Amino acid sequence: MPKTFFITTAIYYTNSSPHVGHAYEMVLADVIARYHRLKGENVFFLTGVDQHGQKVQQSAAKAGIPPAEFVTGITQKWVDLSKKLNLQYDDWAETTSGRHKKVVQGILQRLFDEGQIYKDKQAGYYSVRQEQFLTDKERGADGEFGPEWGQVEFREEENYYFKLSQHKDWLLRYLDNRNDAVVPNFRQKELRNAVERLTGDLCISRPKSRLDWGIELPFDKDFVTYVWFDALTNYISFAGYDPALSTFNSQPSTFSEKWPALQIIGKDILVPAHGIYWLIMLHAIGFPDDQMPQLLAHGWWNLGGAKMSKSVGNIVDPFVLTDKYGADALRYYLMSDIATGKDADFSEERLVERYNADLANNLGNLLNRTLNMTHRYRDGRLQRLSEDLKLPDDAIDGYKQLLNEYKATKAAARPDVMTERSLYLASVLNGFIEVRSPWKLAKSSRAEDREFLEDLLYDCAEALRILGILISPVLPKAAHGIFDQLNWKMELSGKEERFSLADAEWGKLPDGHVVGKPVPLFPRIETT
Ligand code: MSP
Repeated sequence: MPKTFFITTAIYYTNSSPHVGHAYEMVLADVIARYHRLKGENVFFLTGVDQHGQKVQQSAAKAGIPPAEFVTGITQKWVDLSKKLNLQYDDWAETTSGRHKKVVQGILQRLFDEGQIYKDKQAGYYSVRQEQFLTDKERGADGEFGPEWGQVEFREEENYYFKLSQHKDWLLRYLDNRNDAVVPNFRQKELRNAVERLTGDLCISRPKSRLDWGIELPFDKDFVTYVWFDALTNYISFAGYDPALSTFNSQPSTFSEKWPALQIIGKDILVPAHGIYWLIMLHAIGFPDDQMPQLLAHGWWNLGGAKMSKSVGNIVDPFVLTDKYGADALRYYLMSDIATGKDADFSEERLVERYNADLANNLGNLLNRTLNMTHRYRDGRLQRLSEDLKLPDDAIDGYKQLLNEYKATKAAARPDVMTERSLYLASVLNGFIEVRSPWKLAKSSRAEDREFLEDLLYDCAEALRILGILISPVLPKAAHGIFDQLNWKMELSGKEERFSLADAEWGKLPDGHVVGKPVPLFPRIETT
């Protein structure tokens, strides 16, 4: 059975609308998925929304509508965003769906039957306003709970607990045996340190009297499951996991072909949610070590060094940006101006600056002048006079290196590096055009100059064709534009099958190929 490359994002809380940080994560996953499709692999890309929980119940109450209705409205915004961003996902997770609920309940029942879930009483300080138990972490410098918690009272509450800490040694061993369990590596170290400090079990329920917008525990109808058993399970419930089949090997092939996944998450939900709870949950339901997902923890987009947050009001709206600049411009900025794993500061000025410098003046210009010159000097017809490339050595080596990196799986996780290298090649070609001045060659009466001009035009067009393939994961619309203007594979116009790494071999444009008319691919954004 051919293996499918399975990639997931976090699922997004439907208590509020998406911001540009969420857009980043979605695009990152989409770009990685597209890299794998370029390689001819079967890809299954899952993203979606996390619809239950306290935050949603509170937001719905504030809006004065039932949670189900509230969730439908906000979910639509996330669907709209994924369309605006040109995401090509294969399935969309919604945690209120019946299919998901069945898997969550099936897993809970199994763990309960096996004695991994038990009921216990919790006593402590409780904030009535925030509807949560408080720990010493919530105390201020004076040792008291601050006014933000409102009325704080001592309470006792019964809940269900999952025996998390009994799997601690297993998790330490797993992390020690696999050095790429978490990418980047410094995050794996951070996780390991956190696992060493792990004590206690995980509370997995809330009494319905306090929270009813959730999935009911199959063994106690007075409770719903709280957050993680609901949210994390989406990764397997939407991939076809069957909780009634207790061993991993008995799972249907539709599931085992896909699993394990590469999971794209932000740094905030690595510890403890994915790195501890999720890996332990999978282990507890019988997933072998070699079937653990790989976690790619990315950094955050901040604003002026501060965390974007709705309550602070410093949110950047991705809808405004795509309407103003287009999806490709936003995708490019989000992929190129941050190193995967690190944080970055969002700046609209910087988006415009990079668009103008890298896309309009460099890549767009190369396409425009290549096509213009081909029409002006050769009636749009390319001639392939020799197999020898006339391009400078660093461009040729650059292409070879880049292709090899594209073939390596790891390259996909660093779109910033890959786009920079692709665009560097465009700038080498632009420099080459300046130096060799085709406008002078066209006037020359020497045969070798004219031949050089033929080769130069062919090489630039061919380089652009390959660049179109290489940038297509990040800039799908522009890549189609390059192919259309080159008049290449028009029979597949608009279809992603147009782009394949196998076609990124030198010399596929045939001798005599006629290119299309140039249309500005990235019109400059004027700022004044
Ligand atoms: N619903 C939970 C995750 C459940 S996963 C089974 C959640 N939702 S969230 O909407 O708050 O965040 C979803 C993802 O968006 C997280 O991976 C988070 O790191 C990411 N981001 C939120 N703000 C971000 C930035 N400012 N920058 C980059 N990513 C950001 O957590």
